[in-house]
Order: sequence, then structure tokens, then C-alpha cells
Amino acid sequence: MKKEFVVGVTGASGICYARRLLEVLCTDATVHIIVSDVAERIAAHEAVRISGFNAKYHDNNHMFSDIASGSYRYDGMVVIPCSQKTLAAIAHGYADNLITRTADVCLKERRKCILVTRETPLSGVHLTNMVSAHHAGATIMPACPGFYHHPKTIDDLVDMVVSRVLDHLGVEHTLTERWSGADA
Ligand SMILES: Cc1cc2nc3c(=O)[nH]c(=O)nc-3n(C[C@H](O)[C@H](O)[C@H](O)COP(=O)(O)O)c2cc1C
Repeated sequence: MKKEFVVGVTGASGICYARRLLEVLCTDATVHIIVSDVAERIAAHEAVRISGFNAKYHDNNHMFSDIASGSYRYDGMVVIPCSQKTLAAIAHGYADNLITRTADVCLKERRKCILVTRETPLSGVHLTNMVSAHHAGATIMPACPGFYHHPKTIDDLVDMVVSRVLDHLGVEHTLTERWSGADA
């Protein structure tokens, strides 16, 4: 059966992570996309297009959407990139827009909820919110690529992050080769 996911895009740098994830997911899953107002502006600033995917786009202010209800079933949600503001809201159940409400629903329904945060350095507030969200059931996946695959391009680095997100969603991919050991 076709899998179904919600992708929230919020106002952190790194909208390219969202675009790459959507390129993969929209090929054979049903995808719902919610983009925050600031994310729209950062996407324009970073010259990354997140419109035009084969997906259902939702208005972040439309709390009456199907996905806002726990009775609507889907396989999981990713917030990518996830701003510290949205992380804070999710960590505290402050569901005042569709992204934070849908994440709140994921947590209460015990569905996969992946938060791809991007900020550095992290304050004590950020760290505490990450721990709270983790204890509530979210998976915190900072946009933090490894270098052991010898990336040559920015796209390689983006794929490194997105491939780990896909692994956690249980979606097959060929974005990166799997580590198969090396001589020390
Ligand atoms: C150009 C730009 C880049 C930003 N980058 C980040 C970032 O990398 N991480 C972050 O947590 N917030 C970042 N912010 C701040 C958030 O956009 C801001 O807290 C906003 O209220 C988030 O709202 P949203 O989560 O509803 O999109 C950035 C803001 C701007 C204008």
C-alpha cells in the first residue's frame, strides 16, 4: 500500500533539505506539504523552489485540514528544516498552526515525528526543548552531515542528511551508499 507522509517546512536555513526529501517522497508516496510563512521567504532568499511537487499543499493557518485530526491516518511526519521556534512549540504542545498541530497529533498518536533542526550553537533552551521533544516521542535529527562518504558537492551533503531521514521513515532509497566498514 502507498505510504503517506506529512512534510512541514519551517523558517530555518537549509530549505534544500526539504526540497530533496520531497523529490524522493513525492515519487511514490502520498505527501502533504505545509510551509510556514517564514519558510516561504527563506526559500526565496536561498533560491530553492518547494512548490510544484505532486503533493497536497496545506495552508499553515488552516486548522480545519484533514491532517489536523488524529482520526486521519498517515505514516509519519517530518519537519525539515525545523526552526527552534517550531521545535519549542512542538516540545510544549503549543499547537497554534497546522505544522505544530499535526506534530502534536503525531506525538499523541505515537506516529513517527522527525524534527530536522538547524541552528548552531545551541542554547540551553534549545537543548532542553530537544530533550522534551525526544521524551514526547519525536526523533531529533539535526541537519548534521557526516564526511566519511567523501562528499564532493553540496548535493552530496544534503543527500547524506536526507538519506538518514528516509531511513527513519522506512522509505527505500539510493541516495548514499551504506557504510560497509573500512580498514582503520
Ligand atoms: C534568513 C533567516 C534564517 C533563519 N535561520 C534559522 C535557522 O537556521 N534556525 C532557526 O532555528 N531559526 C532560524 N531563523 C529564525 C526563524 O525563522 C524564526 O524563529 C521564525 O519565527 C520561525 O518561524 P516558523 O518556525 O513558524 O517558520 C531564521 C530566520 C531568517 C529570517
